[in-house]
Amino acid sequence: MLSSALLENPLRQGLSSGRVAPPCSLVIYGASGDLTARKLVPALFELYEKHLLPVSFNLIGISRSAISDEDFRKKLKEALLQSKPQVSDAIWNSFSQNFHYHAGGYDDFKVYQALAVKLNELDEKNGTVGNRIFYLSTPPNVFEEIISNLGAAGLAKEEKGFSRVVIEKPFGHDLDSAKELNQKVREVFKENQIYRIDHYLGKETVQNFLVMRFANSIFEPIWDRRYVDHIQITASEDLGVGTRAGYYESSGILRDMFQNHLFQVMCLMAMEPPVIFEANAIRDEKLKILQAIRPFDEQTVRTHAIRGQYGPGFLAGQKVPGYRQEAGVDPQSITPTYAAIKIFLDTWRWHGVPFFLRSAKRLPKRTTEAAIQFKEPPNLLFKNNMTELSPNVLIIRIQPDEGITLKFETKVPGMSMEARTVNMDFRYGTSFAEGTSEAYERLLLDCMLGDATLFIRGDETEAAWAALMPVLNLWETTQPEGTFPNYEAGSWGPAEADEMMEKPWRKWRKL
Ligand code: BG6
Repeated sequence: MLSSALLENPLRQGLSSGRVAPPCSLVIYGASGDLTARKLVPALFELYEKHLLPVSFNLIGISRSAISDEDFRKKLKEALLQSKPQVSDAIWNSFSQNFHYHAGGYDDFKVYQALAVKLNELDEKNGTVGNRIFYLSTPPNVFEEIISNLGAAGLAKEEKGFSRVVIEKPFGHDLDSAKELNQKVREVFKENQIYRIDHYLGKETVQNFLVMRFANSIFEPIWDRRYVDHIQITASEDLGVGTRAGYYESSGILRDMFQNHLFQVMCLMAMEPPVIFEANAIRDEKLKILQAIRPFDEQTVRTHAIRGQYGPGFLAGQKVPGYRQEAGVDPQSITPTYAAIKIFLDTWRWHGVPFFLRSAKRLPKRTTEAAIQFKEPPNLLFKNNMTELSPNVLIIRIQPDEGITLKFETKVPGMSMEARTVNMDFRYGTSFAEGTSEAYERLLLDCMLGDATLFIRGDETEAAWAALMPVLNLWETTQPEGTFPNYEAGSWGPAEADEMMEKPWRKWRKL
């Protein structure tokens, strides 16, 4: 039986509290875009099926495209049926009965006034009691315009119910623009009304970092510089830039994956235990990690940060073009599609322990994981009897095949003293009947519930930009050394990334 102290533990309470969302209206800006059809509406549907979506719920889509309510619903339905072909007309109609669409320019104040009237009407009609979420899924160049118009139309006020704004990435293009955006948003919304989204934080396995570390007693005592040799975080993708060249050319892998997703995973791996399971306590600890990143100088950017770009190659037996040959990409582009970075955190716990982060497009497969490699035993008793011992590694697989593996040495049965590495494995797929939820499902629900734990606070986003700026600045103002593109699509990236591991026992994991 669990002790009463454990049952009263805030971590337990936070995990098990009732989670049905209150009545509310969700207004999506950029509603005719891909994210609404591919991610947001399917996530809302999952919540609906699990009875977590409130019965009183309105969705209002806003975009520039002039389409009717009917066409808007039709498009969403078609997209949902791709992943859920079994959804009947009756279920769809009941789910989408309060879905509306409003065409209009983001700079047109009349659209915001009309929205305010419409929301009041819907509150009366459907009992949504003045609770509103404004979801910005537009290109970032209109974020500020939408936010100041929402403010001017009185929509940020929390008179009857709550008013929250969800801001998609990218949050700024660099430190200065992120600061400016933070300032503009805070002129209209208070920090506790602002939900900066990072969909990695909605991933089940990423949330499990907190439970694994702080709901068990066996990991924390060895989770520091005394036992850990280094940490590797990898997010590899087989896809190329696809149809997103316009965005990617001015973004590149550091802005797209490191400033947000990889840094957040690193924070959850590295942070100190918060004193309470509460949004600001957790975000305070993550912020300390971002602030503890040892600043890069020109020299360390050259030795601790490796950039790459994919050339033509083969993936799954198919010939694929290089980045510079993709539609919309400058044929001379130096935008990185690969980066590997060695980071030191200047904290008591992690002094001298390198964190190796890598992410890229067009690697052989899609895998995201964090791996902790432990130091070798202090006294190698078996060194004369055995060939080579492998280090212990704890691997947290974020996707696919979500789970945790511990690699350790064991004796091979027989007369000799031979050791071999074996795995102790936990797989979500086999341990739980229920599959893991989609990130957006969890994040939308949390926002409706007013739980900002899995959203990024303004100071975190600025600290992440501040840490990356020296690398971005040097990479954007200097040509890459040697040949560029420097890795073939379908390979594991440039060889230089191996050199920054320095020690013979440190190698990028083969995934
Ligand atoms: C997005 C990036 O934030 O994350 C994409 O913009 C990337 O370039 C994607 O492909 C990866 O997310 P996931 O959930 O597929 O790992």
